Amino acid sequence: MSTSPYISLALRSLVLLPLLFLATTTITTKANVLIDQTCRESAEVDPNIDFTFCVTSFQSTPNSQGASLNHLGLISVTLVKKNVTNTMNSIKNLLGNANDDSNMKKGLEDCLNLYSNSIYTLDEVARDYRAQRFDDANAKISAVMDSSTTCEDGFQEVGVASPLTKQNKHVFQLCAITLAIISMQSH
Ligand SMILES: *[C@@H]1O[C@H](CO)[C@@H](O)[C@H](O)[C@H]1NC(C)=O
Repeated sequence: MSTSPYISLALRSLVLLPLLFLATTTITTKANVLIDQTCRESAEVDPNIDFTFCVTSFQSTPNSQGASLNHLGLISVTLVKKNVTNTMNSIKNLLGNANDDSNMKKGLEDCLNLYSNSIYTLDEVARDYRAQRFDDANAKISAVMDSSTTCEDGFQEVGVASPLTKQNKHVFQLCAITLAIISMQSH
């Protein structure tokens, strides 16, 4: 006696579905492995890089799943640019509330100048990176990184507490991740 075609189809699905599920999770795990591995290596070469911060940053970008190391580097540049753009918006808001505080205003305006220049530099970084001009990309992302510390130090110079410490640290760290990924590819 043979089983009805419907039952055999159902049986086949029962076997196939878990296999499909297994294949999907394997692919996902593989993608995460590269992010994990890249972030672990980055944190090892640069103590400024926090492993969890690195992984979470990439996970916030859907197309980093399954990306190659080279692509992860480019994604990190776009993360820096997004961060700098958001930070500039915070600075503009803070400037709106700093009318009577000339020291605070000076610190914020300097940061705004630094970060608006960084936006142009980051476009060049992306261009250099795509063309595998890693030395140029390295020098330019380092300049953006310096802007984050210059911004932070500027407040100290005028004697006010920096309202941007967290944002500056994030920009700094994301640049450090880009630098680490560049160095993994250029030797
Ligand atoms: C900067 O990037 C970090 C890490 O991806 C994120 O947690 C933070 O919210 C971002 N900050 C801004 C101002 O966009």
